[in-house]
Amino acid sequence: MIRTAVIPVAGLGTRFLPATKAIPKEMIPIIDKPTIQYIVEEAVESGIEHIVFITGRNKSAIANHFDYHPELETHLREKNKMDELKGVRDLVSRAHFSFVRQNEPRGLGHAVLCARHLIGKNENFAVLLGDDVIDAQVPALRQMMDVHEEKQAPVLALQKIPWEQVSKYGVVAGEHVSRSVLKLSGLVEKPKLEDAPSDLVIIGRYILSYEIFDFIEETNADGTGEIQLTNALRQYRDLYGLLFQGKRYDAGNKLDYLRATVEFALKREEFREPFSAYLKNLFPNK
Ligand code: G1P
Repeated sequence: MIRTAVIPVAGLGTRFLPATKAIPKEMIPIIDKPTIQYIVEEAVESGIEHIVFITGRNKSAIANHFDYHPELETHLREKNKMDELKGVRDLVSRAHFSFVRQNEPRGLGHAVLCARHLIGKNENFAVLLGDDVIDAQVPALRQMMDVHEEKQAPVLALQKIPWEQVSKYGVVAGEHVSRSVLKLSGLVEKPKLEDAPSDLVIIGRYILSYEIFDFIEETNADGTGEIQLTNALRQYRDLYGLLFQGKRYDAGNKLDYLRATVEFALKREEFREPFSAYLKNLFPNK
């Protein structure tokens, strides 16, 4: 059973400036929910009970968001706004939240290492990255847990993407062991196009064992001074990748963020009709 999820949220969010000057990028909402809440909901719906945020300076809004707010709750109760009350209370009661500061910007591998003291020696745990919002019928992490249970080995989420984009990601080499599962034989972080082993890339979901912490400690920083998780993962002998079912949005990319906003709005009962009518009106000849 995987009970703990580590979610690194220490990044500065420069891609969304000026919005992220005073608020964490993870608190930018898609409609009315901060992007980080979509990630936490996916974890909790997959069975996670303990969320460990790896935070940095100026991230207190995230801690406040995943805490009770007695004044607000009393106010909502008095006004009989029960749906809103449920919205601010429910998720907080469904998991425990811990916060660890990453006090140096030393990369994703280092961020994960910051959680070491909160993970049991025989424990497997999940890592979810806040930029990757996934819309799926079965939560992507849950799909990965099923593969993990079967293979008893670490699992990464994979997606096939257009070749020209591979240099933005960790790229894998591997062999299919079933239609959607690959046994991995190689990993490269952000390779040049000509060095990429495939067009299958790592999306920000990982199921890892405690061993990863030793692997990270043995991993040297790259040219930018960061310790890459991808490089540490290479030390696993048995490592699998899952081509998960679902649609992924890069919430750190403005165009993808806009797509997520439009598509999530069209899925909401209250907006479907008026919002699609509005969109059709914008492009009357299409
Ligand atoms: C990180 C990982 C990369 C992965 C990506 C997924 O990169 O290092 O391997 O493919 O997340 O979103 P980042 O986007 O933080 O640069």
